[in-house]
Amino acid sequence: MLNIITHNKNKYEELRRIVPSLQMVDMEYPEIQADTLEEVIEFALNYLAEKIDGNFIIDDSGLFIHDLNDFPGVYSAYVFKTIGNEGILKLMDGMENRGATFKTVIGLRYQGYNFKFVGLCHGRIGDEMRGNNGFGYDPIFIPEGEDRTFAEMSTEEKNRISHRGRAIRKLAAFLEKMGEL
Ligand code: IMP
Repeated sequence: MLNIITHNKNKYEELRRIVPSLQMVDMEYPEIQADTLEEVIEFALNYLAEKIDGNFIIDDSGLFIHDLNDFPGVYSAYVFKTIGNEGILKLMDGMENRGATFKTVIGLRYQGYNFKFVGLCHGRIGDEMRGNNGFGYDPIFIPEGEDRTFAEMSTEEKNRISHRGRAIRKLAAFLEKMGEL
């Protein structure tokens, strides 16, 4: 059995489609201010390992907008809470290059060791919000090769191409190798 420590039911839903045995544990942990998602994950894995037994995972994700010097990046949660999708669209008003990358780092604590699985999804920021599915920045993110935003896709469709889908499939391959899946 594997626990995911998160408050975010949407993340859990996406992840358990690929690792059905995953259990959600709603528990607080510190997300440090750091330059990379990997550092945030490393600190949180070590913090949580002191508090809980057994194997578990955590997910830290961010949206990196290329012509905004990768903003909001590691500040994605704070920026979403403060200015939201409307704020991002306003900030990008008139910008032609709208390229952006979503990144997920899944941290795994397994038998006392830390592992990280990274998934990227390239795409662009749309001109308006579209769609009601998903969460967070999904209504403004259009993955490469698509005309629809993530929020206009089903969970299965998003998972097939998303940052989180890619990261969790790497984790699933690892767990399979270890005979855990
Ligand atoms: P965190 O991983 O919970 O710290 O996420 C950072 C911010 O990015 C939050 O505001 C999330 O809502 C948002 N976010 C994380 N993953 C996704 C996603 O798959 N789609 C859209 N927004 C996301």
